[in-house]
Order: sequence, then structure tokens, then C-alpha cells
Amino acid sequence: MKNILEAPFLKEFTATASNMYRLGWDERNGGNISYLLKEEELKDYLDLNHVVRRIPFAGVHPTSFDASPLEGKIFLVTGTGRYFKNVERDPANNVGIVRIAKGGKEVELLWGYEDGGRFTSEFPAHMMSHMARLSVDPENRVVMHCHPTNLLAMTYVHEADEAKFSHTLWEMSTECIVVFPDGVGVLPWMLCGTDKIGYATAEKMKEFRTVIWLLHGVYGAGKTLDETFGLIETVEKAAQIYNIIGSREIKNTLTEDNFKELIDLFAIEPRYDFFREEKYRKLAKK
Ligand code: 13P
Ligand code: ZN
Repeated sequence: MKNILEAPFLKEFTATASNMYRLGWDERNGGNISYLLKEEELKDYLDLNHVVRRIPFAGVHPTSFDASPLEGKIFLVTGTGRYFKNVERDPANNVGIVRIAKGGKEVELLWGYEDGGRFTSEFPAHMMSHMARLSVDPENRVVMHCHPTNLLAMTYVHEADEAKFSHTLWEMSTECIVVFPDGVGVLPWMLCGTDKIGYATAEKMKEFRTVIWLLHGVYGAGKTLDETFGLIETVEKAAQIYNIIGSREIKNTLTEDNFKELIDLFAIEPRYDFFREEKYRKLAKK
């Protein structure tokens, strides 16, 4: 067997955690990542028949969540209470590779959490989000949660309406509508780590790859770690520009006609129902 610490998927995962930490998205143990792995990328590094221990979902945060639609799927997941700044230096203790067991009520630990740890308390939200994203995009592999400073600040001062929130973010730089034409979903404050917030997040994830948890942070989903990181990075930068502008008078901004030029150039399908002008709103699908 090859040394798993050298596995490209693990190195990319831990480097991503370090970048998130350095950008201030993951103070202390804030944030968590789950990454759907393929058996073929794992087989040279792990004996997939060897289960280190079984970890039930009930435990630190009791949960009634059922992950049976993901039975047999293997995820690389950050541990609960683990500091993002330590993930790259010490992956064996801070992350784990888990397989969803038959019945969908526990996982089989295949590697990691070596000092007795367990997966993130946000596991229900992650797994339900994976199910939701896979139902609309079979190539989705990543769910990422973090607490980006500017986006979090923006949730205190911007209306919680997702059409208005998305429109404001799109206006904050030319590339925004190209990177997230689907806009952002917005959830009210809810208790984290619960099935309830997991179901609510997953429901939004059927429509949006980015879901904002008011007064808490953001969930992002994507096909790759880079794509998901880049999505949150772009949303967070837009929020930073919004905060820098603050209450100063806007003298120039992107118009919906500008958005339309970008849409045509990049051949993207935006949420036209989030537009204000009738000529664009009537292009909305529903
Ligand atoms: P965990 O340490 O359990 O991953 O929780 C961090 C967090 O961000 C909760 O929302
Ligand atoms: Zn959080």
C-alpha cells in the first residue's frame, strides 16, 4: 500500500483547509469540509475491507438523520472540534475517511480521527446537502462550510431576501454573475449541528450551490475542491466590496443590461426571477 499522507486527494484537501484558515474563514474549529471520494483513487492507499471502528450518528449531537441513500459512499471529512490551522500539519488526527454503513445510521471509519475523534457536528447538513446536490448534479463531490468574515458581516445589515441578496452580490464585481448565476440561497438563523438545519440547507441546495446561514456562515457545493473554494472566495470578495462601500453613495454600478451582456458572452443561465426589470424577469423559467 502507498502512504496515504502522500495521496493527492488528501494533500489537496488539507491544503484547501489551510487556505480557508489563512483567509480567516475558519477561526478555531469553525467550518467543516466533506469530499466524496472514488474507490479507485483510494484503493492503492487503503484496504477498504478494514474498518477501524464504527461511529453512530447519535452521540455528541443526537440525530434522527438517515443517510441510507448514500450507503457505501466514502467521504473525507473534517473532525468535530478540530482547528483548521492544524489540519495540514496533522491530518491523521483532524480528518477521517468514512463510509456510510448499511442502513444509513452509522459510518465505518476507514482511516483518520486517530486520537478517538469523530466527524463534524454538521455531518447531517453535509450528507443531506450531498444527496440534494447529487440529485441535480451527479458530478458534485464537495460540500464546504465556513464563516467568511465579510459575508457574515453582510448578513447583519442586508435584507435576508435571497433575490435582493443575490442581486447585491452580483453588482459587487463583473465576474459575480458568471461565477454564481444561480445566486445564493439564504436561511434564517437556526440552531447549527441539527437535522433541522440539515434538511433546510439541503432543500436550498437543490436550487443553489451557495447557501448562506444568517449570522453564522455559508455552505458551498461543487464538483471539485477548487471549484467550491473559488465559489465561496468569489461570494466573500463581493461581500468585502459591499462592506468597503458601506453607506457611501453609489455613483456607478453594474446594470441588468451589463449582466445580460455577460450572460450572453458566457452562455450562462441566471436566476432571471432575481432581476428587477420586467424584460428580464419574463425570461425566468418558472
Ligand atoms: P465542528 O467543529 O463540529 O465541525 O463545527 C464547526 C462549525 O462551524 C459548526 O457550525
Ligand atoms: Zn459553522
